Amino acid sequence: MYRSHNCGELRASNVNETVTLSGWVQKLRDKGFIVWVDLRDRYGITQLVFDEERTSKEIMEQAQNLGREFVIQVTGTVIERASKNPNIPTGAIEILVSELTILNEALLPPFTIEDKTDGGEELRMKYRYLDIRRNPVKNSLIFRHKVSQEVRKYLSDEGFIEVETPYLIKSTPEGARDFVVPSRMNEGQFYALPQSPQTFKQLLMVGGMDKYFQIVKCFRDEDLRADRQPEFTQIDCEMAFVEQEDILNVFEGLTRHLLKEVNGVEVEEFPRMLYDDAIRLYGNDKPDIRFGMQFGELNAVAQHKDFNVFNSAELVVGIAVPGGNAFTRKEIDQLIDWVKRPQIGAMGMVYCRCNEDGTFKSSVDKFYDETDLAKWAEITGAQAGDLICVLSGDTNKVRTQLSALRMELAERLGLRKPNEFAPLWVLDFPLLEWDEETNRYHAMHHPFTSPKPGQIELLKTDPGAVKANAYDLVLNGNEIGGGSIRIHDKKTQSLMFDYLGFTPEQAKAQFGFLMDAFQYGAPPHGGLAFGLDRLVAILGGQETIRDFIAFPKNNAGRDVMIDAPAPIDDEQLQELNLKLNLKS
Ligand code: AMO
Repeated sequence: MYRSHNCGELRASNVNETVTLSGWVQKLRDKGFIVWVDLRDRYGITQLVFDEERTSKEIMEQAQNLGREFVIQVTGTVIERASKNPNIPTGAIEILVSELTILNEALLPPFTIEDKTDGGEELRMKYRYLDIRRNPVKNSLIFRHKVSQEVRKYLSDEGFIEVETPYLIKSTPEGARDFVVPSRMNEGQFYALPQSPQTFKQLLMVGGMDKYFQIVKCFRDEDLRADRQPEFTQIDCEMAFVEQEDILNVFEGLTRHLLKEVNGVEVEEFPRMLYDDAIRLYGNDKPDIRFGMQFGELNAVAQHKDFNVFNSAELVVGIAVPGGNAFTRKEIDQLIDWVKRPQIGAMGMVYCRCNEDGTFKSSVDKFYDETDLAKWAEITGAQAGDLICVLSGDTNKVRTQLSALRMELAERLGLRKPNEFAPLWVLDFPLLEWDEETNRYHAMHHPFTSPKPGQIELLKTDPGAVKANAYDLVLNGNEIGGGSIRIHDKKTQSLMFDYLGFTPEQAKAQFGFLMDAFQYGAPPHGGLAFGLDRLVAILGGQETIRDFIAFPKNNAGRDVMIDAPAPIDDEQLQELNLKLNLKS
C-alpha cells in the first residue's frame, strides 16, 4: 500500500494515528538536529518532521539527502504542530516519520514548482509535466474536468446522446485550412482531420438520433492567438425538429447551468442583439456588454462644419469614456499614438473633454462650438467628467478601430471584471461575406446554414444582404459558441453551393454524400457548437485558452515538449508515397 491518506486530508482529529503518505518533496528545511519536509501531491501539502531525538540516525541521514521533487513514501505518526500554519488545511499537524522510502530520485527542476514560478512560458511548456504539478495549472485542469462533467450531466439529462464521429474524414469547410493525413493504403490520397463534425452530426439527424452531442477535438490550420489553438475542443450539438428558438433555449439552459454549478452565479434571461445592431453599437459581432461605451454615430452633427477630415469620412463615430476627463494631456496623447499603431491603423483621434461645470473642450475647437459638442455628448451618452473619443473614416475600418479602442480603455479602466458574467446572443448573421482575396462570397458560418425564410430569392439580386438563421453565443466579449438552422433539402443545398461558386461536379465530389442523404428523409434540424477551451477559460476568469489545455501548442503551432511537428524518415515517406511529390 503506497498510502493510507493523501497529502491534503489529515487534520488535528487524526493526531496519534499511524499513517502512510506518498508524494513529491516540495521543500526541505534542514536545521541539522531537525529536518522539515513539505510533502506534496495533487490534494495538498503535509509537513513531515524528522528530529535527532525521535528519528533513527539512518532515516535522519536519508532525509537530509533528499532533493526537491524526489518521490518518497513515509510512514509515521500524526502529531500536533508546535507552530500551526493557518494558511493550509493540514496546518495543524505534522507527521513524525518512522519509515522513509525513496521511490524515485529527481533531477533539479528547471524552474520552481510554486504558484508564482521563476520559469518563463517556453521553459514551462518544454517541461509541461512539471508545470502541471503547480497549483494554477493543476487547478485549471480540474476546473475543466468539472465543466465537462457538468456539460455531460446536463445534456444527458435533456435526452442528448453522445456519439463519436470519425477523425479521418474529408474536408469540412469551416473557414480554415485543413490538416491532412496521407493514406498509405490509398496511394496519393489524403484524409482531412475535421475542422468540426458538422456534416456527421447532420447525418446523425438524418439517422434519426434526434439529439446529439459530443465533446470532440477539432483541427484547424489557421493563425493562432490567445483564444485559438490548432487543435481545440468543441461541445458539438445538433437537434432535429427544432427552430432557432428551441436551440437558443436549450443552450441558454446549459450555459446557465454551468454558471450556477461551476461559478455559483445566477444569470437572468440572456439578452439578444441583432448582428447589425452589434456592429453599429459596438463595431464588433461579439460585444462585451459588461460595460457601456456604446458607439454614437456623429455624421449628422459633425459633418459640414469645415473640418475636412470628418467631411470626407464615410463614418464619424465616438464613445464616451467614463471618467475620462481625468486623463492628462500626456495620457490622451498616448491613446492617440495607440490608435495610430499599425495594428489598429487609425489616422488619428479627435477628443472632447466634458468638464464638471458642463462646458466642453475639444481638440477641434476651431470647428465646433459648445452647442455642437453638446450634441456629441448627447449622442454618445457622455456625462460631465467623461471624455469623448472620436474616430472617422471608412465605415468598416473605423468601427473595428473604435471597437479595439473601446476594449483597450475598458481594460485600462478595470471594467472587464473577470468574475462578472454577461452572456449575449447575437442573432441574424449575414449568410455570406465578401472575401477580398478570392473576390467572391463565402459562407459566413458554413455552407450548410439556411437563409432566413423568404430571403432565398435575394441571393440573386443582393447576396450580401441575405440574413441567415445563424446565431453566436457571446460571453464577456468572447465568441464561445455558434450555430445555425441547417438547410435540409437537396435543392436549396445545391443552390447554396452554386452561389458559393462550386460547380455541380465539385459540389457532388465534396458533399455528394450529404445531398444524397437529404433525399432519404432529412428532418428539419439545427445545432450549435461551443468552444470548450474558451468557455472553460472565461468561466475560470481568464481569456488565454492555453492555460486550460494540458498539452497546448505555442503560437507557431509547435509542441515544444515532444518537438512536433518533426520530419519523418525516408522509409516512412516512401511508404506514404510522399517522397517524390515533396522533391518535385
Ligand atoms: P464555429 O466555427 O463557430 O462553428 O466553432 C464553434 C466554436 O468553437 C470555438 N473555436 C475555437 N476555439 C479554439 N481554437 C480555435 N481555433 C477555434 N475555432 C473555433 C469558438 C467557436 O464559437 N460546426 C459549427 C457549429 C455549428 O454550426 O453547429 C462550428 O464549428 O468558441
